[in-house]
Amino acid sequence: MRNTLKYHLYPIHGGWLNDPNGLCQYQGIYHIFYQYAKAVDGSSDKCWYHFTTKDFIHYKDQGIAIYPDQESDQSGAYSGCCYVEDGMHIFYTGNVKQEGNHDYIHSGRLSNTTYIYSKDGIQFDHKKVVLNNNDYPTDLTNHIRDPKVYKRNGIYEMYLGARTNDDIGCVLVYESNDLIHWKYTKRISSDQPFGYMWECPDCIQLNEEYFLITCPQGIQQQGIEYQNENQNGYFHLNDTKAYDYQTLDYGYDFYAPQTFQDENGRTILIGWMGLPDKTPIHPTVKDGWQMALTLPRELKNINHKIYQYPIDEILSLKKNERKVIIDSTKKEYEKECMIHYENHNQTIHIQCNQLSITYENHLFSLNFLNDQTERKQRSLEINEIHELDIFFDSSSIEIFINHGEKSLTSRYYDVQDQLTITSNQTIEITYAEMNAFEYID
Ligand code: FRU
Repeated sequence: MRNTLKYHLYPIHGGWLNDPNGLCQYQGIYHIFYQYAKAVDGSSDKCWYHFTTKDFIHYKDQGIAIYPDQESDQSGAYSGCCYVEDGMHIFYTGNVKQEGNHDYIHSGRLSNTTYIYSKDGIQFDHKKVVLNNNDYPTDLTNHIRDPKVYKRNGIYEMYLGARTNDDIGCVLVYESNDLIHWKYTKRISSDQPFGYMWECPDCIQLNEEYFLITCPQGIQQQGIEYQNENQNGYFHLNDTKAYDYQTLDYGYDFYAPQTFQDENGRTILIGWMGLPDKTPIHPTVKDGWQMALTLPRELKNINHKIYQYPIDEILSLKKNERKVIIDSTKKEYEKECMIHYENHNQTIHIQCNQLSITYENHLFSLNFLNDQTERKQRSLEINEIHELDIFFDSSSIEIFINHGEKSLTSRYYDVQDQLTITSNQTIEITYAEMNAFEYID
């Protein structure tokens, strides 16, 4: 099937995928869970689906790890994290929608922060609710979810995404000595309100600096900024103050990213290559599945900005790497590939099938010339482009500018099996095919 992804995780047995969950490395093995629904439109109750890998190339399909099988998570085992210390400590939001006449924002919804321990990462102990609606501040709506847990200065901290009664997004911070008993300590917010809800908070430290990655909802579009229905980005963080918000990824399909630190100390991010609400129906629905995860990306703090670039394991999928000259003559290449381009020009005009990639007057754009999902254009401003890396899979594109200073991630669909690359300038690029992931028993 033409749109089947070769080197991205997606629901291989059919169904719907959203947020990555519980990312961690435990005893050498990487655990990648994600929000999964059997119904291809995501309408059935959410579970946690589970893959493990030692190398981000060979994946073991572990099936569904967490089902919404308790009263306390009866409407879905929503997003959460995995904290590693003598085993895996999973935290997620048990979502309950009560019967009755509710808006499910101010009433009718229980957000049960739930804990599960696993000694081996395969068998999961019983569930325990560690925080419920009575434990959240009273000026908050029922929208409190997506716990992320860390240990800082010997104390465990939990960050929860939240929406106040005044429709202001913020993050609640709880502390604990034993991972079970949690006490509310503070609230992180921005000086000026920035959206009504902050989903999937993740507080990371890169070179001594703290950043709060989160997904604000309800931000108005401002020119080429905030064009998607829901945002993804990060704030700089100074204790309870979140400031200087930056978009993480400018493409059509990037949301709910989660990070973890691996055993080598790398901070690795994986995002959902999709978007909640007003998302188009992707053509893969006719093949019984929808949505995928992004490539895993290593994060770096360069001049107080977060850079993201695919991890070395993904780069090792390259084969037949070679330099090729691109001009206006149509030449065909394998579709699952990577293009590296060192730019010495003021402008860039590269066309790959129905996608045109342009850079002019400091404006970089990804243009969809004839897209099946009616997409048109995503753009960003950047002073200078000296390097461009583009990863194509059968139905996705991930662009990294200046080794990850900016990125754009999108699904895209066309009818060609090959990739035709042209440019109205004569340029030299480095082209490599990409090997596929392997699913092992
Ligand atoms: C983000 C999100 C989370 C929630 C999950 C439910 O996409 O809305 O806030 O936990 O998806 O699937």
